[in-house]
Amino acid sequence: MGRKIVITSGKGGVGKTTVTANLAYALASCGERVVAVDGDLGLNNLDVAMGIEGKIAYDLFDCAEGRCRAKQALVQSPWHKNLFVLPACFGKNRKEPETNAVRAVVGDLGSLFDFVLLDCPAGIGEGFRRAVACSEEALVVINPHVSSIRDADKTINLIFENRPCNVGVVVNRMRGDLAAAGEILTPQEIASLLKVKLVGVIPEDDKITSGLSLGRGRCARAFSVLAGNVLKNRCKIFDCQSAYTGFFGSIRRKLKSIL
Ligand SMILES: Nc1ncnc2c1ncn2[C@@H]1O[C@H](COP(=O)(O)OP(=O)(O)O)[C@@H](O)[C@H]1O
Ligand SMILES: [Mg+2]
Repeated sequence: MGRKIVITSGKGGVGKTTVTANLAYALASCGERVVAVDGDLGLNNLDVAMGIEGKIAYDLFDCAEGRCRAKQALVQSPWHKNLFVLPACFGKNRKEPETNAVRAVVGDLGSLFDFVLLDCPAGIGEGFRRAVACSEEALVVINPHVSSIRDADKTINLIFENRPCNVGVVVNRMRGDLAAAGEILTPQEIASLLKVKLVGVIPEDDKITSGLSLGRGRCARAFSVLAGNVLKNRCKIFDCQSAYTGFFGSIRRKLKSIL
């Protein structure tokens, strides 16, 4: 059976969809069969992040309501032959699907793939509970700001209340220059405050705006380290900070603050 991992956070806009798409691609690049499921039924955009918009025939609603089998709704991502997406389409007059029905769909996918990644909606409402109930593991995406950390703390407690779950954090949009200057917490400090394991650190990167970083640049390397950690259950951390420490690091920090 494949591993079912929900990608969640308290806040919206911290990078859940970005992490889902890029982690899915990085795992597929390691030879794993991966499906990314758009569990955000209100503000669905995983299809755009994974380059399959305009190719959708059926979606998660159709599978959950028995109009098609999970296999029929899958769309292969153009980025990798091992990578598939189960999209969600928001439409008028559509009722939220039952948790049990979605769990059955995710269960079917678990028998076809090595990894099922669920992109979770923001907040702690019905969609969040449903996505958590369908998964066995959770990655909580956090930005290195106090408000995001506080939301993540609530989210982690709710995950544990819902079910025993293997929870890790991914610190996204990390600014090594600010961490080295002591202006924000380091990823290790964030994980120890939240009392969960640190699974990944992804740097802030302007080039990521279109969704996938596709194997190039610092972000792609950070996602590949994250995929290795998920696969091998280890905690190797992508280093965003050391370039900004020491004498030359302090010059780089100064330059970054004025550019
Ligand atoms: N590491 C990053 N560096 C720069 N921008 C990022 C990074 N991660 C996400 N973003 C941007 O942040 C915005 C929100 O990301 P998204 O993945 O849609 O968040 P969520 O799914 O949590 O609402 C998007 O414009 C995305 O491109
Ligand atoms: Mg999203």
